[in-house]
Amino acid sequence: MKVSLSFEKGSSKDLSIMVDALRASSTIIFALEKFKEIYPVYTPEEAIEIAKEKDAALAGERTGRTIEEFELGNSPREMKEYDGKKDSLVLTTTNGVRVLENMESDIVLIGSFVNAKACAKAACELAKEHIEIVMGGFNRTFAIEDFLAAGEIIYWIQEELENQKKLDIDDIDYYKEETGITEHANSAILASRDKEKVEKVSIKSKSGRRLAYLGYEDDVLLCVKSNITENVGIYKDGKITLYKSN
Ligand code: MLT
Repeated sequence: MKVSLSFEKGSSKDLSIMVDALRASSTIIFALEKFKEIYPVYTPEEAIEIAKEKDAALAGERTGRTIEEFELGNSPREMKEYDGKKDSLVLTTTNGVRVLENMESDIVLIGSFVNAKACAKAACELAKEHIEIVMGGFNRTFAIEDFLAAGEIIYWIQEELENQKKLDIDDIDYYKEETGITEHANSAILASRDKEKVEKVSIKSKSGRRLAYLGYEDDVLLCVKSNITENVGIYKDGKITLYKSN
């Protein structure tokens, strides 16, 4: 198995994990507690149309703020508190949804700090040869919280693959780099191991500070917690549903 890490656009044809810790991934992961299906849509106009068509609740942000007249923001806290009756949600966000729409692999999962271990387990169940973690970033630039969340997921992938004996260090082909955890992915594991520092750094990240400024500090504090839910979203045919492990 190969495990790699990339930014905004992946190359795996097999399985990719979209990571936008603050906040699209986390919002989706918690929304799966309330909605049977989530439609990620890039433009607010399209989101409004699809929400009408599907009789869905409407959530989204631009520059972090809830879009005017939308029922919900891109907020994991709001998702946890949602008590509406709709089965479907349409979500539009600036970075996470754009990255998701560009994925080219057969299987796409949604991962973050909050579901890292469960997401890693699902990826190891489903992947055949190449798991790629794709960081969403912040306004098309690197975002440290995505790198750290990716590291937490890759750490659990490593554990799982070692248990399944699918990660034999002697098998690594250093010239083709077709198997094993790439050095980039390995750096993310190393960076992610000090949980206290990871939380502090993520809270103080560009995105974390912007969200706190906009009044979403509670979202940030929720999003930086590791392994607090088993929910894993799987994206297929334009919609996200809850992945059920075998
Ligand atoms: C995004 O997908 O652009 C982000 O999650 C933005 C946000 O913080 O709401």
